[in-house]
Amino acid sequence: MNHLEQLLARRSSSNPTLIVTDGIFSMDGDIAPLRDMALLAERYGAAVYVDDAHGTGILGETGRGTLEHCHVESRVPYHMGTLSKAIGSAGGYLSGSAEFIAYLVNTCRAFTYTTAPTPGSAAAATAALRIIRQEPERRARLWRNRDRLAQGLRDLGFRLASSESPILPIIVGDPDRAMNFARTLLTLGVYAPAIRPPTVPASTSRIRLTITADHTDEHIDQALAALAQAGRALNMI
Ligand SMILES: Cc1ncc(COP(=O)(O)O)c(C=O)c1O
Repeated sequence: MNHLEQLLARRSSSNPTLIVTDGIFSMDGDIAPLRDMALLAERYGAAVYVDDAHGTGILGETGRGTLEHCHVESRVPYHMGTLSKAIGSAGGYLSGSAEFIAYLVNTCRAFTYTTAPTPGSAAAATAALRIIRQEPERRARLWRNRDRLAQGLRDLGFRLASSESPILPIIVGDPDRAMNFARTLLTLGVYAPAIRPPTVPASTSRIRLTITADHTDEHIDQALAALAQAGRALNMI
């Protein structure tokens, strides 16, 4: 946030400025400090744009995402997300003022020249939004599962990224070692992909675990047993 403030202070205030951020960061699983960003945007006459691909359906009292979680919905004018993650369909959404949406509809080439979502994916997304609103117990289960897995990983002694979400990366470092870890896990029945540069910075290759509401305690314990076996075989714990 100090760096952001320096950049905002340095720019010419006649330049319209957008602060663009993820809500939940996809590779570390941490949550953007949206209240601080909104405050800086207000202080320096900028606006915040949040890509909440990983927060929609996951965070917030009613599942509306990171903006709801951080209580900044009325202070963030541009909010986008995908329908492909928690919502389980395809496509995405962008919300903002009617003027902004009309501007995009008329100028956004990727939108203008792309076929509209199929009726099937639109219906699936609509149904998922209803489930997110009406079945908060799924979200409660997701966070309980997340805590069980995170605690298990800490108990095993893995080096974890500073995640605050259901994305739980185990930092391995070397890319070949991370691939080896992922392959070993697959032979033990756990699909957990290795993420390497350029997707993440050099020396931070990782196994990116993602937990869902539908995992059971038995699934999590089975995954932890496999992670323990693979981690020991590769001298990681
Ligand atoms: C932060 C972020 N934004 C947007 C997207 C795009 O989503 P989609 O694959 O549904 O286009 C992703 C997908 O992985 C993502 O991680």
